[in-house]
Amino acid sequence: MENSANATLILGGKYGDEGKGKIASKIAEKSDLVIRATGGANAGHTVVDPATKQKIALHLVPGGIVYPHTLCLIGQGVVLDLDILFSEIKTLEELGITNLQKRLKISGRAHITFPYHKELDELHEKMKDKPVGTTKRGIGPTYSDKDNRVGLQVYDLLLPLEELENKIDVATRLHNQLFKANGMEESVVDPKVLAKEYHEYGLKLKDMVVNANQLIREARQKDWKTVVEGAQAIWLDKDYGDYPDVTSSNCCTEGTLIGAHLSYKDVKCVIVVLKAHDSRVGNGPFPTEQPAHIENDTVTEYDEEDACIGDVIRELAGEYGATTKRPRRTGWFDAAQARTALEILGADYVVLNHLDTMGKIINKLGVIGICEGYYYLGEYIQYYPDDIRLTKQMPEPVYGAVSDGWEIPKGTKKYKDLPENAKKFIRYIESLIGVPIKWVGVGPGNDDLIEVKEE
Ligand code: GDP
Ligand code: IMO
Ligand code: MG
Repeated sequence: MENSANATLILGGKYGDEGKGKIASKIAEKSDLVIRATGGANAGHTVVDPATKQKIALHLVPGGIVYPHTLCLIGQGVVLDLDILFSEIKTLEELGITNLQKRLKISGRAHITFPYHKELDELHEKMKDKPVGTTKRGIGPTYSDKDNRVGLQVYDLLLPLEELENKIDVATRLHNQLFKANGMEESVVDPKVLAKEYHEYGLKLKDMVVNANQLIREARQKDWKTVVEGAQAIWLDKDYGDYPDVTSSNCCTEGTLIGAHLSYKDVKCVIVVLKAHDSRVGNGPFPTEQPAHIENDTVTEYDEEDACIGDVIRELAGEYGATTKRPRRTGWFDAAQARTALEILGADYVVLNHLDTMGKIINKLGVIGICEGYYYLGEYIQYYPDDIRLTKQMPEPVYGAVSDGWEIPKGTKKYKDLPENAKKFIRYIESLIGVPIKWVGVGPGNDDLIEVKEE
């Protein structure tokens, strides 16, 4: 292949919410095409609009949309909730982001999340002994309909009304039986009503729908700089992650490429995003998790003196879900898990976000832990095991301690101006994970990224 799409992939190295949106949006500033490839409205990517400095939580539209020169694509791997998409478009228009209908393109092959998928998501969760703690955005049921070959693609919404109605009828026969059997009469789908509503969505979408393979061909021919904004993260990947506490897509490198209509030959660089602490929202293993006042996804009352370590990390880092507002579980940076993730993802570089927050956490607590490896089944290991479900043993972290905190002066833009303790921390983490840290995050904005280079 002569041309490639010159693509930089931005992927999550933990359990999501590492700050992928911020770095994808930053790189989009100097790119032509920005692609969302997997997941759906379960993602919540916080970006700061450089013009208004306002924080925006995006679920479906790629964060690069804030730069007026970019073309943005929602790829075939995404599951699309149209209520959320159009409300996001409205919010962006109200912020003054222009030319959206021309700049936002949607692969005709992306699948649609219908309201019945969200009902099914809730129902499945209710029926499990141990729920996953999904975002209830209908993600699993949309992907399982895709696998069962009863999913509807964006292209289907452009069909004549009767054909769309027939497809919805076929798609919902089994679901309707399930709703009836569970006394959920109000959830039973009337294909006529739903087809009418989604046919209208089709008319609204029409000009945005593209043959994305063709768009990528053009990107290759014109040597467009391309950024792929990954969603979720490696340990939520349905194959690599902590099954069953995972999402329903492959958010690893290869899954992201399929979702973005790209070939492996298009990859210029894989950037994996990490934070200086770790977080997880929803259920599942989290070896370095610290105790916190959280019950049923809610923070319970506590006094300043009873604050647990997890509470301190959560509050200093502002760890509340961008999609569900749930308080995130928090813990120490797990370098063994990061190293394993970076190998699987084929990382070239790392972005380490929340360096500013880590300085504050150390200053507040006096000392913090960094997990360098685990005791697991009587052995010291330095990788994340994949059989926790079988052994029922949580890997026991072996911590290194860091007790020299820092404060990053406002407006710091250069690595050389970072406090010495912060630089020591970066070098320590880099030595543990084995992949160069190219940028560190010192705040939520696109400009709060500092390139790690001695000048
Ligand atoms: P994503 O899902 O990976 O895009 O990440 P989210 O947007 O869900 O979560 C990251 C959160 O951390 C957001 O609230 C960001 O504004 C914030 N954030 C990202 N990087 C930094 C950083 O370096 N410092 C601080 N203080 N906040 C950051
Ligand atoms: P971004 O892109 C954090 C988690 C949910 C739940 C599990 C399955 O913002 O990093 P799902 O609704 O996908 O069926 O839920 O996956 N999850 C995320 N956690 N960030 C995300 O996305 C997530 N997307 C899904 O909390 O545990
Ligand atoms: Mg997020």
